[in-house]
Amino acid sequence: MTHFVIVGILVIVMTVLTYIGLDAAGLAKQMHPVAASAQAIPIDQLWHWEVIVIAFLFSVIMAPMLYSLVVFRQKKGELLDGEHMEGNTNLEIAWTVVPLMIVVVFAYLGAYSLGEVRRVDPEALVINVRAQQFTWSFEYPEYGIISTELYLPVGKQVILKMESADVIHSFWVPEFRVKQDVVPGRITEYRITPTLEGDYKVRCAELCGSSHAYMENPVVVASVADYDAWIVEQAAIAEASKTPEGQGKILATKYGCIGCHSADGTALTGPTWFGLFGSTVTLADGSTITADEAFITQSILEPNATIVEGFPSPSVMPPYALTDEEITNLIAYIQTLK
Ligand code: CUA
Repeated sequence: MTHFVIVGILVIVMTVLTYIGLDAAGLAKQMHPVAASAQAIPIDQLWHWEVIVIAFLFSVIMAPMLYSLVVFRQKKGELLDGEHMEGNTNLEIAWTVVPLMIVVVFAYLGAYSLGEVRRVDPEALVINVRAQQFTWSFEYPEYGIISTELYLPVGKQVILKMESADVIHSFWVPEFRVKQDVVPGRITEYRITPTLEGDYKVRCAELCGSSHAYMENPVVVASVADYDAWIVEQAAIAEASKTPEGQGKILATKYGCIGCHSADGTALTGPTWFGLFGSTVTLADGSTITADEAFITQSILEPNATIVEGFPSPSVMPPYALTDEEITNLIAYIQTLK
């Protein structure tokens, strides 16, 4: 009987020590990284209970084994076989019923946590997520915003509707705890309620190609006021880029026009666009011409047709085969520069 009492005490001591050790390593209660979502709470709680049971199960096996190794080892001169034993019904019932109960309790706790994590807020903010090798983009459909940064308001549930442009990726922000695969050909959902303001990172948790490890984008959890300000700012940018002049500005960057034609009057390799539209331009042959749509269109398509005074002849600009719409947008942008 004393053996049982001693082993019982050893099991308790070892359980406590194992738990303290796991907690010091950030694996029990004080988890790393920090929990930054409402969904992290039931998950961390479930994990905490599991760690306690793990510490106990580890001890309940190790303590009696180590105790027996030391106390019941073969003594000097002891040559007889050990006592023969066959079956122990009580023991067998105990080691069947106790683990069964533990499994049932954890099945209940697991189902409860899953229910908490998936709890639907009908007011949730919808954001469309697109994953592709090797980046993420986030669309705020209500505002027409597309961003490479996931900006979230604190305390409000967000539902991410995620799709992949190519292979399987996996959306994972460790601080939010929940992880969800992004699969081509279907939309997967991910609900999260951020609770802690800060800068995080979404990383891809599914090997998706050579740059999988670099598939990271910033995630910002901001106060509601900061989030609203961000939305206003981004919506203005999105709105501006929808107009012909906004599109033209994007084209000027895309085709590299701004490398030679300044928007503010700075002298570069080519004539500045500042104040160009509608102005009178002196050409290399001494004649003058009004910089209207026809002139600018021709200058884009056939840079050598007219050379502006003071610039190299033949022109160093290659002809650009832009579509009519692109030219219209580019001219609309040039018109704004005055
Ligand atoms: Cu995308 Cu790994």
